[in-house]
Amino acid sequence: MNVKEILADYAEMTEQALAKYLPATECLQKSVAEAARYSLSAGGKRIRPALVMEFCRVCGGEPETALPVACAIEMMHTFSLIHDDLPCMDDDDLRRGKPACHKAFGEATAVLAGDLLAIMPFQIIAEAGIRKTLPMDSALRIIKLLSELSGLFGMIGGQTIDLENENKQPPTEVILEMYRMKTGALLEFCCKAGCIAAGAGAREQLAAGAYGQRLGLAFQIIDDILDVTADEKTLGKPVGSDADGGKYTYVDAVGLERAKEQAKILTEQAESFLAEFPEREFLSGLTKMLLDRQY
Ligand code: IPE
Ligand code: IPE
Ligand code: MG
Ligand code: MG
Ligand code: MG
Repeated sequence: MNVKEILADYAEMTEQALAKYLPATECLQKSVAEAARYSLSAGGKRIRPALVMEFCRVCGGEPETALPVACAIEMMHTFSLIHDDLPCMDDDDLRRGKPACHKAFGEATAVLAGDLLAIMPFQIIAEAGIRKTLPMDSALRIIKLLSELSGLFGMIGGQTIDLENENKQPPTEVILEMYRMKTGALLEFCCKAGCIAAGAGAREQLAAGAYGQRLGLAFQIIDDILDVTADEKTLGKPVGSDADGGKYTYVDAVGLERAKEQAKILTEQAESFLAEFPEREFLSGLTKMLLDRQY
């Protein structure tokens, strides 16, 4: 199987599992459940679940063991996107090729749907630990890691720095630190959590984390490049959103060509950390694919 086919298989596993975790919609609190289901099932590349399950596999575990964690991170990521699109944040109306959550359900419901998708991940990972499909010790470590990398020194911290620098020109080091936190942290989580789910040791976790951080930086730089170069239909979200929102990106700081070069260098650096994993063929192919992606 090639990279695209393996990615599609992981995506299919994720879709099926997510469908079971999603809240039942026939209840008094139906609107929020529907909004969460809407954003979660709107597509998306499902890169993060694939990373979680593949890192588990390359560390000798079964991908299925990490499936609850894969669903959990896709929920956390979707929460970040729902809130990121709100008028008080990036004010974007299109996400994953469909009206953004607040456009489809209203702002208050979108805020609550985001909140729900930020909390459910912890319930899902804890449940996997209690049911022992995931070793309890791994579940606990993964919960701690997810709290850290989503929190003040992770995704939420990065989003805060992003908002505080609107209509400013922060130094390049600040831009990169913001990217490390707002985007890199959740990708780092995926790689490390997959290793932890397989019961792998510090050495693998360290290499996976270093890979995830480099991949995360490259991923956000490419996201910024696509905001300038892609078309809305392919991207599934508005183009030119960064300029409209007063965001001074890495592309603004160094120019399009140097940004592309830097994304390539970071991708190569990321790949070098995969040397720790003998069965790295898919991860290596995925890393290259993400560099060349069009959306
Ligand atoms: C978008 O992430 C937000 C960033 C961190 C740049 P993705 O590009 O992975 O979005 P989906 O999940 O495919 O929609
Ligand atoms: C978002 O960065 C990172 C998140 C934590 C959601 P962007 O604001 O550039 O992401 P997009 O372009 O809206 O997906
Ligand atoms: Mg944003
Ligand atoms: Mg945005
Ligand atoms: Mg963007």
